[in-house]
Amino acid sequence: MRSVVVTSLGLVTLAGLLAPPAEAGVHRPGKEIKQPVAEGYGGAVATVDLDASKAALTVLRQGGNAMDAAVAGAAALGVTEPYSAGLAGGGFIVYYDARTRKVTTIDGRETAPRAMTSTAFEGIPFDEAVTSGLSVGVPGSVAQWDLALRRYGTMSLRQVLRPAIDIAEKGFVVDQTFHDQTEQNAARFADFTSTAALYLPGGRPPRVGSVFRNRDLARTYRELGIRGPAWLYGGELGREIVATVKKPPVRPGATRNVRTGLMEVSDLKAYRAVERPPTKVTYKGLDVYGMAPPSSGGSTVAEALKILEALPQAGLHEYLEASRLAFADRNAYVGDPAYVDVPLDQLLSDGFAKERACLIGPRAMPHPAAPGSPDGSYSATCPAAREVSVPPEKKEGPETTHLVVTDRWGDVAAYNITIEQTGGSGIVVPGRGILLNNELTDFTFGPAPGDPNLPAPGKRPRSSMAPTIVLKDGRPLLAVGSPGGATIITTVLQILVNRLDFGMSLPEAVAAPRASQRNTPTTQAEQAFIDRYGPELTALGHTFTPPTTPPVDEIGAATGLEFLGNGRVQAVAEPTRRGGGSALVVSTHR
Ligand code: GLY
Repeated sequence: MRSVVVTSLGLVTLAGLLAPPAEAGVHRPGKEIKQPVAEGYGGAVATVDLDASKAALTVLRQGGNAMDAAVAGAAALGVTEPYSAGLAGGGFIVYYDARTRKVTTIDGRETAPRAMTSTAFEGIPFDEAVTSGLSVGVPGSVAQWDLALRRYGTMSLRQVLRPAIDIAEKGFVVDQTFHDQTEQNAARFADFTSTAALYLPGGRPPRVGSVFRNRDLARTYRELGIRGPAWLYGGELGREIVATVKKPPVRPGATRNVRTGLMEVSDLKAYRAVERPPTKVTYKGLDVYGMAPPSSGGSTVAEALKILEALPQAGLHEYLEASRLAFADRNAYVGDPAYVDVPLDQLLSDGFAKERACLIGPRAMPHPAAPGSPDGSYSATCPAAREVSVPPEKKEGPETTHLVVTDRWGDVAAYNITIEQTGGSGIVVPGRGILLNNELTDFTFGPAPGDPNLPAPGKRPRSSMAPTIVLKDGRPLLAVGSPGGATIITTVLQILVNRLDFGMSLPEAVAAPRASQRNTPTTQAEQAFIDRYGPELTALGHTFTPPTTPPVDEIGAATGLEFLGNGRVQAVAEPTRRGGGSALVVSTHR
């Protein structure tokens, strides 16, 4: 079988082109500067943002553990990355508890209000649903923080919110990414009086280099710390959120058709975060743990890895094909497990992986790939390819964010946080400084009979978030995750393959150019990927298109950790995507 295998020569060139020299990124004691790579001891963190990384580091230095620091980092991202994260959103934590040596997950996914039916989005243009009260899901983040801290943390919510309150009050320096994201959202932000007042001061996006304060959010966090989650889940903050969803503060004269939402205070009262078992597969002797449904992240990354493992060799051609097949199965079978019978064990089984791997030949398979039959009965002969039609995928943007933290005890958190679209619904709750999510646009709009991801009362929309932890002999080796809608899955998969199969270091694996095949007619790929690998892969029948959603030509913005042995940890963020991320360690010395 012909395969594009990345040669060691290719890796040297790639590293030289795209990864920073290791020494240049190493953290210097006492100076928390923005750098994509840091190595050291006693705890480490990586986020897309220096202030958020510092917030998590502060909590680690105060004696908090990885869960405390993860919540602190997430709350800080709600200030400095408010278009991707916030208390009115949701997310998933995959957590390694060093004491029990077990991996668990905390699901803070938003839910549909009880009044939502399977046809709620039918006939509504996607762009119209994006900026609406209808798409606002019942927020999960605060219940998730509460559950995570009660089960695994050592600090109170009030304590871990302090660094974020500090940033919100004193302000942070506006960077190009924040400015650009505001600019991209300016037209819809301008249509809501509360959003324009906060994010378009003087009618314009804040200048790069200016200091941005969110005193409303500081007050909201402070009051949340005092009153606790019930203030949101049925109390005054909840009532204000419901009032905003039902009657968004549309600017007089705005012509946008803003659909109102269905959320009631009773939906907030009914919300529960859930601790769930992770997905788990062994890949080349390592244990790979991910987020189980309602996210498709864990199952799709894991299925693709198992398909790759079933092949004689894994190169970029096989990476694209395995991803194509895993996405066909994700789309057919994965939804909220409270509503859908997801055949998770079979999707991750060796038998199913072999049956799927059998379809991968020397050339790209025709589009679209049909879903397989994860029914427990697998044939030794390759099943005939079936013809199917699949609807076009919704637009995938750079939404969401991911952080990783580890502490001195060896606990590890990989945490994806989201309000869905960059800028969520575009609607700020008046006087509270928080943007409402538009997570319910992650449902299939339909009509799509039998689709596992149609809306239903109380249902969690299928996610692609894929916070991932890899153990070697029961101890952490890697933690990794990324933003990017459905491209999250391929970014995580590609980083794992880069690191585990292609011999790259973690910083090289994160920096390397990306391609994302999601059972789509062409593969989305960064121009650097097309330039470097396009000719060989095009000869095998692959076609490529660069991503067009701003920031153009970027897929993902990953963060990761590698455990180097003897307590030494390498924290890794992006060197350039989304303006580059921030990796920090508690100490450079033992
Ligand atoms: N809203 C992004 C995701 O859940 O995948």
